[in-house]
Amino acid sequence: MTRRLTGFQPTGKLHLGNLIGAMRPLVQAQERPDTRSIAMIADLHAMTMEHDPAQLRANTLQVATVLLAAGVDPRRTALIAHSQVPEHSELHYLLECVTGYGEAARMIQFREKSAGSPLPGFSAPSEGPGAGSKHVRLSLLTYPVLMAADILVHDSEQVPVGDDQSQHLELARTIATRFNTRYGETFTVPEGIRPESAARVMDLADPARKMSKSSPSPAGRIGLLDSPDVIRRTIARAVTDTVGIVRDDPAGQPGVTNLLGILRACSDRELGDLHSYGALKREVTDAVEAVLTPIRTRYAELAEDPDHVRKVLSEGKAWVRPRAAETVRRTRAALGLLD
Ligand code: ADP
Ligand code: TRP
Repeated sequence: MTRRLTGFQPTGKLHLGNLIGAMRPLVQAQERPDTRSIAMIADLHAMTMEHDPAQLRANTLQVATVLLAAGVDPRRTALIAHSQVPEHSELHYLLECVTGYGEAARMIQFREKSAGSPLPGFSAPSEGPGAGSKHVRLSLLTYPVLMAADILVHDSEQVPVGDDQSQHLELARTIATRFNTRYGETFTVPEGIRPESAARVMDLADPARKMSKSSPSPAGRIGLLDSPDVIRRTIARAVTDTVGIVRDDPAGQPGVTNLLGILRACSDRELGDLHSYGALKREVTDAVEAVLTPIRTRYAELAEDPDHVRKVLSEGKAWVRPRAAETVRRTRAALGLLD
């Protein structure tokens, strides 16, 4: 049995890119008798930047509900929230003791998200150059070690990751290997896997970048819970080009290529003759609608009963904890801590 861990950050609203690139592969993997997945909502990750507690709680429940609505079956996939399984946090500290400050500070995501802040270790001056520069949480620096703990605590063998997380996955592998060499075989060294197919959905307003929760404008994103009207308008406004031919040409016609990619991902119908961008956009709208309508309907039913969603999370926790506790026990023993 191959153990797989898929993580979702509960910041902002899930979009079509998340569905095609991450949620669908997770749902499809449920059909494979040789793979067992954990779907983890990384609520602790969402606290590495300024956050609003009520919003975090709502987002965490919403992501759990959307995952269930999209077909995550809690009898086959353990659905958990990061913070509800305390072994993640315990292993996090233990792994901090085998990780270098420089290794964490080098992470691209840390450098990007902390850009504009004063040097690590110094607070922002109240006047002069750098005055008022932003506050960087220490957890933003140590977060990749928490991510390593998330992965290693469940003995995960496969971790689906997009490009932006591959450096973090590499760090998890480095930490696991270093620990095993220094303190004895303790961790399974995980492998990063890429979502199958050309699964990357690009931003509709700026097809040079991927559709992302963190993109500046909502015009580029299709939210999984957007109304049919919003979806129709978003697709109608999608950036195309002046070539006027419907074809795949990633370099010359990235917008049209992206729309074709979305169409293929959302419909298995033959693409037939699409002679105009207007016709293409209508086809894409229908196909996306056909995929999202059942998810939206199921979401509305599940959202009526948040206690049910909480119960699923609590069952997921009970399911994964014995193995996580055993990993922590092994790690503590290897490090010389009393049991
Ligand atoms: P975001 O960039 O929107 O914050 P995350 O980093 O939380 O998304 O990614 C969650 C999962 O969704 C990851 O497995 C990632 O590979 C996948 N994903 C995110 N954006 C896209 C996209 N535009 N196309 C395909 N997959 C995506
Ligand atoms: N850091 C990941 C992201 O930003 C989310 C995540 C947290 C994760 N822990 C994980 C992903 C463990 C895979 C495995 O998307």
